[in-house]
Amino acid sequence: MLISPSVLSADFGNLQRDIEDICNAGCDFIHVDVMDGHFVPNLTIGPVVVSAIAKVATKPLDIHLMVENNSFFVDLFAPLKPQYISFHIEEEKHPHRLIQKIRSLGIKSAIVLNPHTPPEEIEFLLEDLDMVLLMSVNPGFGGQSFIESVIPKAKRLSAMRDKINPNCLIEVDGGVSDKNVEQLRDAGVDIVVAGSYIFNHTDKKKAIMSLQCR
Ligand code: DX5
Ligand code: ZN
Repeated sequence: MLISPSVLSADFGNLQRDIEDICNAGCDFIHVDVMDGHFVPNLTIGPVVVSAIAKVATKPLDIHLMVENNSFFVDLFAPLKPQYISFHIEEEKHPHRLIQKIRSLGIKSAIVLNPHTPPEEIEFLLEDLDMVLLMSVNPGFGGQSFIESVIPKAKRLSAMRDKINPNCLIEVDGGVSDKNVEQLRDAGVDIVVAGSYIFNHTDKKKAIMSLQCR
């Protein structure tokens, strides 16, 4: 299992220290939650802070947009050269066009599904995607409880992915811990995002290792 710690749960007064800590502790990506106060009832960080993160990070950025105007935010963050930009299908009228735009900027393209959105919604986009992110909480806040229905949903998506685009990765975000990570692995999930579980541990390396399912 690949691990993408969510910076949302970091100590923003000691952001450099926390980013260095998770990179040294063996994470695979840095998950950056961008919220605009419109698509979700919370407001987080913009390109000034994300570029400060990018400067100290030794792992690639995995940017999760929770915003209304996706294309505008893609332009804002593309210069930071993240590995992934993911956007919500519930907030995009022209997802196919946006996937092509993200890819044309040399960035891997991902779509996010809220807990209520069936995987079939993106069946005809799957061949063009590098990753699908399944929300296992309602987007907006860290520290919420895991919504169990993501497990059968990941299984369904994984079967579709195997048929249509085996290179497309599946990521799950929200309430992930050592209590559910093995079920997620068995359901075909490749990457987990974890915020509070990792940052609430004094030993971040141990927390990351406990999610790796080795
Ligand atoms: C929620 C965010 C998540 C969140 C995860 O909208 O997308 O990335 O920070 O935090 P935990 O792991 O605490 O649920
Ligand atoms: Zn996220």
